[in-house]
Amino acid sequence: METWLVTGGAGFIGSNFILQQRRAQTARIINLDKLTYAGNPHNLSELRRDPDYLFQLGDIGDRPLLSSLLANQQPDAVIHFAAESHVDRSIRSPEAFIETNVVGTFRLLDEVRQYWEGLRGAKKAAFRFLHISTDEVYGSLGPDDPAFTETTPYAPNSPYAASKAAADHLVRAYHETYGLPVLITNCSNNYGPLQFPEKFIPLMILNALQGKKLPIYGDGQNVRDWLYVADHCKALRLVLAQGRVGASYNIGGRCEKTNLDVVTHICHLLDELFPQAPSVPHARLITFVPDRPGHDRRYAMNISKIEQELGWTPKESFDSGLAKTVRWYVDHPQWVESVTSGAYRQWLQMHYGADSS
Ligand code: NAD
Ligand code: DAU
Repeated sequence: METWLVTGGAGFIGSNFILQQRRAQTARIINLDKLTYAGNPHNLSELRRDPDYLFQLGDIGDRPLLSSLLANQQPDAVIHFAAESHVDRSIRSPEAFIETNVVGTFRLLDEVRQYWEGLRGAKKAAFRFLHISTDEVYGSLGPDDPAFTETTPYAPNSPYAASKAAADHLVRAYHETYGLPVLITNCSNNYGPLQFPEKFIPLMILNALQGKKLPIYGDGQNVRDWLYVADHCKALRLVLAQGRVGASYNIGGRCEKTNLDVVTHICHLLDELFPQAPSVPHARLITFVPDRPGHDRRYAMNISKIEQELGWTPKESFDSGLAKTVRWYVDHPQWVESVTSGAYRQWLQMHYGADSS
């Protein structure tokens, strides 16, 4: 069995990926995670007694730690999820985004390069560095623009997107300059179980369940291309196994929705699940609030390349994926309790103001 070093595996997509891969027993996994506010080891509690899963607390910017981890564990692949990931936080406090997404990715890449250069034969030839990135590097689309392709010029608009774009460029440069066998994926908005509730869909579900306001930025007509997280994880597995070294692949759901449509859909699902709730109809909780600065109007991914080259296509429909997601948050109050700590409440208070409840 291969050994993979996964970074940021205690976050939303990383933990879904690790659970999916360990259930299928595809690889032995070491999860390097700093456990920032967004990292939650409980996401992986199912793997407590799994001898082929190891958690390593640490920072991707810690070179001595990286060097000894790589030397001791001898991974066949590095799968790099670790990042500061929330756009609103990047607007308020960009520095952590530069530290982790740019400097951290650079240090990780450089340590991995040295490790890879020391490998020999088949192990060296088969080694891969898979970098997980975002559609936000491409900037914003107008209503009639064609979807982003892998050759769309980068035009990031938020500090988060700029930091991810910088990381993508470094990864690409490490392939061109040193020959490091890299793969890059750029994915659209994910949703599903285990997503930290600062992000749009879980925030709306949890606020609605508690009868709180549902804060929609601007006019609610911004469009995102939604993908169920399990589909993203399957695409990553495929890119790792069969992707062309040095290539990047767009991943998306072919599922463009306005924010207002998404919230309205969540409200209808909750009306059906809890017809007696005092907030029914939940849509009356919708509140328009001042827009996010530099708010990208529309994202849409052209996914022809991954479909044609690797045979991947999104499987979950938005209707079934959203229903499963709402159900998951309803059924996991303890998980919600464990992540909505004092620090989380401080963020809500600072970002949405005193009347956020
Ligand atoms: P997340 O914020 O839920 O998780 C990030 C994880 O990285 C956390 O466990 C955190 O503790 C860890 N981390 C942060 N800084 C670290 C550091 N310096 N060293 C080690 N670990 C650190 O993020 P997510 O939504 O799961 O996103 C994962 C990756 O996928 C990110 O690179 C993000 O840019 C990318 N992405 C996310 C989406 C999305 O919709 N969520 C879409 C496309 C791409
Ligand atoms: O597109 C991929 C990206 O998707 C990832 O790279 C990011 O890591 C991830 O956070 C996400 O970024 P967005 O900015 O698109 O996601 P967010 O959940 O923050 O917001 C989704 C949309 O909802 C966006 O148009 C802003 C809007 N929104 C968000 C919040 C938190 C609101 O209207 N109200 C809110 O309170």
